[in-house]
Amino acid sequence: MKLNQTVLGFIISKILKKTRQNDEDQKARVEKENGKKRGGQALSRRFAFLACALFVVQGFVAILGATSLVVPDLPSPVPYEYGRSVHLGLATCWPLIGAMGMVYFFTVDELKADLYSLKIVRWQFWIVVLSTAGLLGTLTFRIGNGREFLDGLPMFYAGISLAILLCAYNLIQTLKKSKQHITPASAIMTGGMVFLGLLLIPNVLNYTNPIVDEAVKYWVVHLWEEMAFELITSGFIASFFIASGLVEKKDMEKWLYLEASLAVSGGLFGTGHHYYWIGYPAIWLIIGVVFSLIQMIPVILLAHLTYKGLKRHRPLKRVEKLTLWMILSSLLYHLTGASMLGMLMTIPWVNLYTHGTYITSGHAHLALFGVMGFLVLAGSHAILSRGTVLSRKSYIWAVAGVLFLNLGVITMSSSLLVAGFLQSYLWRYLGMDFTQVQGLISPYLLARVAGGSFYTVGSILFGWRIVNVWWLTREDGKISEEVSKRI
Ligand code: HEM
Ligand code: HEM
Ligand SMILES: [Fe+2]
Repeated sequence: MKLNQTVLGFIISKILKKTRQNDEDQKARVEKENGKKRGGQALSRRFAFLACALFVVQGFVAILGATSLVVPDLPSPVPYEYGRSVHLGLATCWPLIGAMGMVYFFTVDELKADLYSLKIVRWQFWIVVLSTAGLLGTLTFRIGNGREFLDGLPMFYAGISLAILLCAYNLIQTLKKSKQHITPASAIMTGGMVFLGLLLIPNVLNYTNPIVDEAVKYWVVHLWEEMAFELITSGFIASFFIASGLVEKKDMEKWLYLEASLAVSGGLFGTGHHYYWIGYPAIWLIIGVVFSLIQMIPVILLAHLTYKGLKRHRPLKRVEKLTLWMILSSLLYHLTGASMLGMLMTIPWVNLYTHGTYITSGHAHLALFGVMGFLVLAGSHAILSRGTVLSRKSYIWAVAGVLFLNLGVITMSSSLLVAGFLQSYLWRYLGMDFTQVQGLISPYLLARVAGGSFYTVGSILFGWRIVNVWWLTREDGKISEEVSKRI
């Protein structure tokens, strides 16, 4: 066993060494000016790395699930329903862990000062790691509570909530410590983290009333994504756009204020589009539509600002260009799969037919991975690659990874949308038998597996880039932490 591990370690280090030698200037230039990266930023590297690792795992779990929908007797150690729960648990946890790293890293950047407590960062990291491992591990062994989206024992959600609250507390204290230097991006990201905690806590409790249970679930499914995460990722986008000179600081900050107010108001009341059929009063049909429309405004403005910035054509470094490719991918799905398709599904007369069909699943993948996932990957990569130079060859491989991810998401979601359209029309509108329709849509579910495979290829290429850059900069991370401890 020990010998195997040594041999494996030797092979991995040889491969990594070879890749490193292939780099343009033989090895990536790591900035060792200790002042540039602070302890909080060094610690945020572990969040970034873990988020990317879980993201790669998710691809493999998902392919298995997607295949078993087409080949029902596929031998699998985990039954489909628990596999689905593991998939959804991963969809909740890796973006969260990545977002924690992003908020820490870019808050330090914005304030030009370190975090209030590095000890809290370490503690909350291990709390979120153990809770995630417990949640995913028990679900794999078929231990859960059957709740859709948030399946699993409440104690693990309590652990995740505690980790978020500790993170939020640390951020609030950090802002208080550097009161004079607070920027809109740092305040908005902290606000996002506070909301993540507040919205998850009610989900730790048990409710006997199914209407309350459903509503509270959507505080995570909808409000995490369309309000709290949106605040965090918009802070990251603003920080990146200003630092890379793509957009003027004053334009970006104006957008941030608008984004924050519309994300909160639109997001909060836009939850109405999930309250249509769960026993809420009919007024939510109107509130849902009106506020979902509001939710679309900030992303349209962001697309406009980005377009203007790109037209000015400032040359960017390769590392920055890679981040930009991912932000642009996210923007594409935010405009189409999340906003336009979301708005169409929000119209109650349309939702009556599309609710619970593969159209919802198509939208969920376009929005959760297309919009949020790409941004968390962009942020995680930006964290790990700070201070490095990306060689042409590594850049091409990394862009190929991003392209495969895009190809995967587009193939996967468009097949789901066709399958969902057929379900809505044949099953819901014409009243055909459910199983008969299921037979008719299976070619599209097979095409989704193909899309998932492209996606997984992309995730492996991107994952490789992450391992590589993490390895190259690992000493730099340690140095920054040491220096920060001494200060
Ligand atoms: C990045 C932003 C977004 C994310 C991450 C997201 C995510 C999701 C997810 C995961 C679901 C599935 C919920 C379920 O199956 O019950 C969903 C459903 C839905 N989303 Fe979004 N969404 C986003 C943006 C939007 C926007 C902007 C709109 C409207 C303009 C919208 C409208 C809807 C509607 C109407 C449903 C409900 C479908 C149903 O239950 O019939 N979404 N969304
Ligand atoms: C290889 C890529 C992926 C494949 C093959 C895949 C496959 C699946 C499958 C089979 C389901 C069960 C329900 C259904 O049939 O649609 C599902 C649901 C879901 N997946 Fe994925 N998935 C992938 C990637 C992702 C990623 C990266 C995320 C988000 C980070 C994600 C988020 C979700 C969500 C939110 C649902 C629930 C949708 C709903 O019920 O409305 N998936 N996925
Ligand atoms: Fe929503």
